[in-house]
Order: sequence, then C-alpha cells, then structure tokens
Amino acid sequence: MPNHTTPTDLLDPIEKASRDEITALQVRRLKATLENVYQNVPHYRQAFDTAGVHPGDFKTLTDLAKFPFTTKKDLRANYPFGMFAVPQSQVMRIHASSGTTGKPTVVGYTANDISHWADLVARSIRAAGGRAGDMVHISYGYGLFTGGLGAHYGAERLGCTVIPMSGGQTEKQVQLIEDFKPRIIMVTPSYMQVIIEEYARLGLDVKKSSLEIGIFGAEPWTNAMRRDIEAAADIDAVDIYGLSEVMGPGVASECVESKDGPVIWEDHFYPEIINPVTGELVADGEEGELVFTSLTKEAFPIIRYRTRDLTRLLPPTSRAFRRMGKIVGRSDDMLIIRGVNVFPTQIEELVLDHPELTALYQVLVTRTSHLDEVEVLTELQSSAAALPAGQIAEICVALESRIKNLIGISAKVAVLMPGAIERTQTGKSRRVIDKRVAP
Ligand code: DLL
Repeated sequence: MPNHTTPTDLLDPIEKASRDEITALQVRRLKATLENVYQNVPHYRQAFDTAGVHPGDFKTLTDLAKFPFTTKKDLRANYPFGMFAVPQSQVMRIHASSGTTGKPTVVGYTANDISHWADLVARSIRAAGGRAGDMVHISYGYGLFTGGLGAHYGAERLGCTVIPMSGGQTEKQVQLIEDFKPRIIMVTPSYMQVIIEEYARLGLDVKKSSLEIGIFGAEPWTNAMRRDIEAAADIDAVDIYGLSEVMGPGVASECVESKDGPVIWEDHFYPEIINPVTGELVADGEEGELVFTSLTKEAFPIIRYRTRDLTRLLPPTSRAFRRMGKIVGRSDDMLIIRGVNVFPTQIEELVLDHPELTALYQVLVTRTSHLDEVEVLTELQSSAAALPAGQIAEICVALESRIKNLIGISAKVAVLMPGAIERTQTGKSRRVIDKRVAP
C-alpha cells in the first residue's frame, strides 16, 4: 500500500507546535469559553453558582476540574435551544441526534462554528492521506445526523470533489464508486462491510476499485475490523471520531502513517478522562470516560461534557496533539452478564479471528429464571456457505471456549448462513439486542 505521510509544510502550524504553545492557546480559549457560557447560558451560570465556582477561578488547566460536568440530561432539560449562547438569528445551522428514547439532543452552529468544523474535517481527511483534488464519496447519512454534512463541508474545504451519496441504496453506491472512481470513502465501518458484500454480490472485485482510503467512524470498531476491511478492499482504513454535542465528525481523527488512534484536535477541544463512577480525573494512559470542553464554539459551547465513551489519552506521535485509544465502548452499551462487564468490541475481536465468518455479529441477551443467557449470532462468509456441518460445529465450540476463557462469560454461539444478520442501510449497526426485563 502507498505511504501517505503528510509533508510537514501541509500541516497547520499548531499541528506541529510545542506543548507550551498548545497549553497557552488552550488556557486562553478555555478562559474565554467559561466567561462566555457564564454570561450567556443560564444553565451554566446556575451550575457554576451551585458548585461555588466562577470563571475567574480558572487560571491554569488543572483548574478546569473545579467546574461541573455537563450531561445529556442537562441538554434534554434545556430542549430545544436553552443551551445556545447566541441569539437564534446568529445560528446558521441546527443538527440533532436522535438517541434511543425521548427527545433528540439539539445542537447549533454559527457561521464561524461551521467554518471551524470544515477546517477540522479537512485536517482529518488530510491526516488520512487525502489531498486537494481527490474525489470523496460520502456515505454517512445527510440530514440532522452530523455525519453527512460534516464530512461534506470538510471535504469541500480541503479542495476535494464531493459525491454526496448519503446512506442506503447499496447497489447504487457500488455503481457510483465504479463509474466516478473516488479515491476516498467516508462511511460507518459496518456499512462499508455491506458495500464490500454488495461488490461480491454483483460479481465485482472491490480490491480493483479506485478506493485507496476509508475514513470510518460514528460507531465503535476494532483493529481486527480494520485489518478485515483493509484486506478485503485493499485500502487504508482510518478512524474518525466525533459526537454532535461536541461538534460532529472530526473532533479527533487518525493519521494514516501511524494508525495509532485518533489525534484529538486539541486546539479546539480540551479532553479529560475521568473515572465514570467517582468523576475523579485519571492519569493519561489510564482507561476511563472521555470528557470534552469546547474551546472555540460560539452557538453551542460545551463545558466538561460526559461523552460516555470509554478510552485512554495517549501521548503525541504523528502530530503535536495527544491521541485517544480506540473507543472500547460506551458505558451505556456495556453489558453486565452475570456480573461480568462485557463490551461488544471484545466479542468482535474473537469473531474476526475466524476467517470463515463475516464481521456482522449480534449479541442477544435474555434472562430466564433470573439468569442471564447470552447468544452470539455470527454469520458465514458467502465463500464458506458450503462448509460441512462438522466444521461449523468446531467454530462454535472454539468461539464459545475463547469467549469463556478471555471474556469470562458463558455464551452460546450460533453460526448462521450468509446474509442472515440484519444489515445496516443507513449507518450505525445494532450489535446488542438486550431482551432482559429491567430488574
Ligand atoms: O456519530 C458523529 C460522527 C459522524 C463521527 C461520522 C464520525 C463519523 P453522534 O451521532 O452524536 O455523532 O454519535 C456520537 O458515536 O459518542 C461514540 O459513542 C460514537 N462514535 C463516533 N465516532 C466513533 C468512533 C457521530 N470513531 C457517538 N469510534 C460517540 C467509536 C464512535 N465510537
């Protein structure tokens, strides 16, 4: 595969700045953000007053820990526009994330916010190896979801030709990739797998497609999945992270030359990792819940937002900023099976050790007579459809024993025929079906 290392003269100066320069910028921007929310967002004024802190108490980065967290509950309580720091007339765009229950979380952007977002997604695409003049096929959904439009403005900002395909219509996705010949695709990793399968169904070789780079995110995916997709499609696969409450895609993004976890664009977002139970800060390198404070946002500044995403902060490598480890999972999709904490990504890694299986799997949890029962549904590759029953049984036994030994739970594994597992048409996949009644 080609080497896409970014020449340093293409980088923004801050991407190669010293730690002192980055810290000075963060302190300056944090000060202004704390002042701004205290003056303009009643929720923050009240929360700071209740906690007995004032923006004036912020002098150095460690002072941030004195300020209260913001949670999804706070955003819901201020639905729809209560957390905005500017009058509606200055809000250029609204996005919203649906969530599983109740009202969506609504976020807004000024013209400057949209422009910064475009800059950061452009920086992310460049880190992935993209350059001005490349053609970018975007299969993230367009609409209230930040994926499509966020990727779109960033690709345009970098000077790319954009194909705003959005999600769904899988056969058409393949046709357009074949006919237009984009170099880059931006899509969820699970929908990329659906596209790869569609190539096979149409009798086409995805390895021979024009695609060289995939920029995948919006859901947790493992390095095992990266290897699987890279081998299947003969592309470089990099990880882009983000969330609507903080901006959208491009809060952090991986460099193709190192593929060692998304680089956090620390000139615009200040990361912290906390113990999700106690709320205490943990040291860099230790796993915990990721918390973000925005440094430049005007319409929807956010202070110490608890993302629920579990990861670690890692030292800089390819850029001057710190990185985050691949997201292990969300604290709210962690399953507790008979007392053992399990993330779907742990199961994914074991499933992908079997080349006969696709990366499409589901974890079905039920409760019979007070005991949790877990079934892992997996699926054969079409090339393995004729596998003898004896070998299928061997896969089941091997996976069950590795799940038991490595994760510590007893699970029943079922190997289904090709195509049996639900495919996502629009983006994020459903890995867990939890049918337990709430205790
Ligand atoms: O998913 C923004 C996005 C779009 C990111 C396209 C990347 C690409 P939300 O719908 O608000 O925003 O969902 C945010 O998705 O808190 C994570 O749990 C998860 N997530 C996003 N990116 C990644 C990633 C978009 N690279 C939530 N790895 C976040 C793991 C991710 N999880």
